[in-house]
Amino acid sequence: MPKMKQYLQNYLQTTDLESTFLDAKYYTDPELLPQEIQGIFRRTWLYVGDAANLSTPEMVWVTKVAGCSILIVRDSNSTLKAFHNVCPHRASLLVTQPGIHSLEQLVCPYHAWVYNLDGELKGTPAKNRFPAHFCYKDFPLKTIQCEEWLGFIFVCFSEKTTPLLEYLGEIPGSLKEHRTESTQLLVKKHYSVACNWKNYHDNTLCDYHVPVVHPHTLNPLQGSVRYYEHSFDEYVNLLYTPTTKEWRSHNPVLDHLRDRARLGFFTYGIFPNLHLVALPNGVLAWIRIDPVTVETCQVNLEIYGIPGFSPLAMELERDFEAFMREDIAITEGVQKGYASGAYTAGIANELEGRILHQQRLIRRFLKSC
Ligand code: FES
Ligand SMILES: [Fe+2]
Repeated sequence: MPKMKQYLQNYLQTTDLESTFLDAKYYTDPELLPQEIQGIFRRTWLYVGDAANLSTPEMVWVTKVAGCSILIVRDSNSTLKAFHNVCPHRASLLVTQPGIHSLEQLVCPYHAWVYNLDGELKGTPAKNRFPAHFCYKDFPLKTIQCEEWLGFIFVCFSEKTTPLLEYLGEIPGSLKEHRTESTQLLVKKHYSVACNWKNYHDNTLCDYHVPVVHPHTLNPLQGSVRYYEHSFDEYVNLLYTPTTKEWRSHNPVLDHLRDRARLGFFTYGIFPNLHLVALPNGVLAWIRIDPVTVETCQVNLEIYGIPGFSPLAMELERDFEAFMREDIAITEGVQKGYASGAYTAGIANELEGRILHQQRLIRRFLKSC
């Protein structure tokens, strides 16, 4: 098992209040959500999606991240850039339709200021009626950090956050060969769930419930808890499970993968709201949990695979959907428990260590915001 970081070892051995679960108020207090958006989501790397969406120049991706509308483009040097989708003149959205557009430039729908895809202001109607000191250089689009790993796009609103590759801990090393040139998005689905976003994410990090809640779905894939291995980086935690004989009898394995990658499943939790599953049959699946209200969230599922090698899209969708429906039923029940007023923080099993890791970060980010 990879060596556990000292700070986490210490943390897991402490008996102070922080080694218990979060109280119910973290899942039910409406005042907490704006603090979480500012204190957590605006200070961490957030997954957006597939860089293949911007494979050619002049493609503009308009999407919402942490409550903000943003634009992601490839600039004139083919570098990915992200901007707030806000005109610096009088705050109009620049592109009102979400989605992927082919645009040579951005023309604001309010007073027609024109920006190039580098975010520079290039033209304004009635320029001679502005004050003499008006200078285009003073009104560029506001940038957001944007980086790509393995063909996946992440953004971060803070300049102070650790660079993406460092933030992702061991992931870039352990999964660098899971995505091939033929890998593509096979399944994309959204689920509206009646629970707090942390409740759903806690559940994706919970390695204690699998045999109970998923006896016919996830449990046969993950095998016996005897073989579960945990490891931890600062913002990332891992459950590693060896492939089962049954799974190997039905699945091809990518030849070029090395030992550990070849022999097991990786299920990573990535702070604050992301889950990444990597299987040696070329499947990479992202589960991103977006807050909507304090008691509702949207769960976004993307499954990537290799057509003709990985299982068919309809099989993958069926298998993921089966265990996610089980999780939705459980988390919606847990949300009712949090709202009941009858819950005080319980005690954690070792198989819930990844939840404690996540919750420690929640406390740390909220304390320091
Ligand atoms: S708000 Fe965009 S040009 Fe005026
Ligand atoms: Fe589950």
